[in-house]
Amino acid sequence: MPEDLSAQILRRKSFRSFRQEPLSQDLMDDLIDFLSELTPPAEDIDWNFDTLPYLDMVKLCMNEPGVKAPCYLLLRAERKRFSLQNCGYLGEMAALYLTSRNVATCWQGSVIIQQGNDFPGSLPFVTALALGMSDEEFRKDASEFDRKPYDSMVYNREEAYRPILEAARLAPSAFNRQPCVFVTDDRKRIHLYRRQKLFANPVKEFEQCVDSGVALAHLELGARAAGFEPKLERLRPEPRFKRGLAYQATVVLA
Ligand SMILES: Cc1cc2nc3c(=O)[nH]c(=O)nc-3n(C[C@H](O)[C@H](O)[C@H](O)COP(=O)(O)O)c2cc1C
Repeated sequence: MPEDLSAQILRRKSFRSFRQEPLSQDLMDDLIDFLSELTPPAEDIDWNFDTLPYLDMVKLCMNEPGVKAPCYLLLRAERKRFSLQNCGYLGEMAALYLTSRNVATCWQGSVIIQQGNDFPGSLPFVTALALGMSDEEFRKDASEFDRKPYDSMVYNREEAYRPILEAARLAPSAFNRQPCVFVTDDRKRIHLYRRQKLFANPVKEFEQCVDSGVALAHLELGARAAGFEPKLERLRPEPRFKRGLAYQATVVLA
């Protein structure tokens, strides 16, 4: 990744009001270049993206987007295990990149685009991000975040990794449910899990798979900022930790 986006974790927030003015073509081109160079955690899953203005977005959607923005980033992926996680990772990297350019964003997980209503031949729609300029301010420091306490999200708390885990704790999630849990071990690894109920609601499950990708993006950026060259891996057999936690991925801190 060309830029260090870890400093943007503190600044990013969900904006709910946007100036209804288009973003410059240069900025859109830079966003497209940035996204095109990303490698998501599961590399064998086909994915792509589109940027659409508000009116075109409304034509594709089953429901209107929750926030009215001049532009939307749409993420699509073939339906495979971990394709939702990939889109969470890609979307959050895009959100942090846009934050670095002072562009406001808001995840739009509630948007539904049915394949029959999408552009012909498109990969299945996964999720979207609203973007544009805003008169609201970016966050200034960590005290402005509404997040669960560190100790309820992190187990086997290896103190040396605290800055990395703090970056992950600040990751956004749908409805701020914060389903992710982080477990360190003594082999320089951080395992990512998400809380999973026995009879889970499929819509919630879908959103929480996206949330796990968002958290992975924060873990990776936090690890890079701490001087590691992290690798995202999916261990086999999956490391079990506790009942009710579904294993998502491991960050190996090389
Ligand atoms: C995958 C995902 C989907 C989301 N969907 C929506 C949405 O549909 N509408 C909305 O207003 N906010 C949505 N959000 C934003 C969350 O509500 C927000 O991230 C959370 O409340 C934390 O606030 P923050 O982003 O300002 O830190 C979503 C966030 C994520 C990560």
